[in-house]
Amino acid sequence: EMKELEAIFDQKIANDEKIEPKDWMPEKYRKTHIRQISQHAHSEIVGMLPEGNWITRAPSLRRKVALLAKVQDEAGHGLYLYSACETLGVTREELYEQLHSGEAKYSSIFNYPTVTWADMGAIGWLVDGAAIINQVPLTATSFGPYARAMVRVCKEESFHQRQGFEIMMTLASGTQEQKDMAQDALNRWWWPSLMMLGPTDAESVHTEQSMKWKLKRKTNDELRQQFIDQTVPQAELIGLTIPDPNLKWNEETKRYDFGALDWDEFWQVVKGHGPCNKARMDARKNAWSKGEWVRDAAMAYAEKQELKLET
Ligand code: ACO
Repeated sequence: EMKELEAIFDQKIANDEKIEPKDWMPEKYRKTHIRQISQHAHSEIVGMLPEGNWITRAPSLRRKVALLAKVQDEAGHGLYLYSACETLGVTREELYEQLHSGEAKYSSIFNYPTVTWADMGAIGWLVDGAAIINQVPLTATSFGPYARAMVRVCKEESFHQRQGFEIMMTLASGTQEQKDMAQDALNRWWWPSLMMLGPTDAESVHTEQSMKWKLKRKTNDELRQQFIDQTVPQAELIGLTIPDPNLKWNEETKRYDFGALDWDEFWQVVKGHGPCNKARMDARKNAWSKGEWVRDAAMAYAEKQELKLET
C-alpha cells in the first residue's frame, strides 16, 4: 500500500498537480517543507525589525505611510506562512520555540544594520527585489498552501520593491549628499543581497532534492544571476554604481559576469555571528515574553466566554 501511495504522490508531482495537507506525502517532503516555510516565515517576522527602526524617522508623512504599510505586510506574510506551515502538522508554539532557541534559521540579510534613511530605499529595491526573484517561481511550488500564499506575497513584494526603488531614485537625483547616501547604502547592501539567495548550487545541500520535488523551481545560482541581470540596468538608470569591479556584460552568454562573493561572511552570519544577530533575537524574545500577559488575558477571556455559553 505504501508503494501505491508513493506512486500516486510521484504522479502528482510529475503532472504538476498540487500536494495538499491531507494528501499522503513522504516524511522527508513534509520535513523539508516545514524547514523552508518556517525559515521563510521567521524571515518575514525578523525582517520587520531593520525597517521598523526607521518608521518614526521617515522624512515625510507619505514615506512614513508607505513604510508602515510595508512593515505591516511583512507581519501578514509571516502569519500567512506560519499558517501554511501548520497544515504540515507542526504547531505555532513549536515554530516560535525553534526561532527563539536559535534552532531555526531565518534569512541572513536581516542581520545587517539600517544606519541611514537610504537603507530603506536599498532594502526595498535590493532585498525585496531579490525576494521577488526567489518567490515568483515559488508560486508554482508543489505544496498547495505554500504556492497559494506566494501569489499574494509576491503582489505585495512588488509594491515594496517599487517603493524602495523610488526612494533610491529620489535620493540619487538629489543633492550630492543625498546621492552619496544612496551610493553608500547600495555599497553595503549589494553583496548581502546576493548572499541572501543562498549558497552556490555546488554547496547547496537541499537544492537537488527540492528541485525533484518541485519545491524549488529554480536553483540558487540561477536566481542570483537573474537578480543581477535585472538590477544592474536599474542602477545605471539612476546613476549609481554597483560595488563590483569585476561586473561585466558578457556578449556570449548575454548575462553579467560578476565577482566572487565572500562566503565566509555569509556562513558567519548564518551561524549567528553577523553584526545584528544578537539584537534581532533579543528583540524577538523580548516581544514574546512581554506579550505573555496579553496571550494569558486572551485565553482567560476566551475561557470565560465558553463558560457563559455552557450555562
Ligand atoms: N540565510 C540563512 N540561511 C540560509 C540562507 C540565507 N540567506 N540561504 C540558505 N540558508 C541555509 C539553508 O536554510 C540551509 O540550512 P538548513 O539545512 O539548516 O535549513 C543551508 O543554508 C543550505 O542552503 P540550501 O541547501 O541552499 O537551502 P535551501 O534549499 O532551503 O535554499 C533558500 C535556501 C533559497 C533561501 C530557500 O530556502 C528559499 O527559497 N526559501 C524561501 C524564501 C525565503 O525564505 N526567503 C527569506 C528572505 S525573503 C523575505 O523575507 C523578504
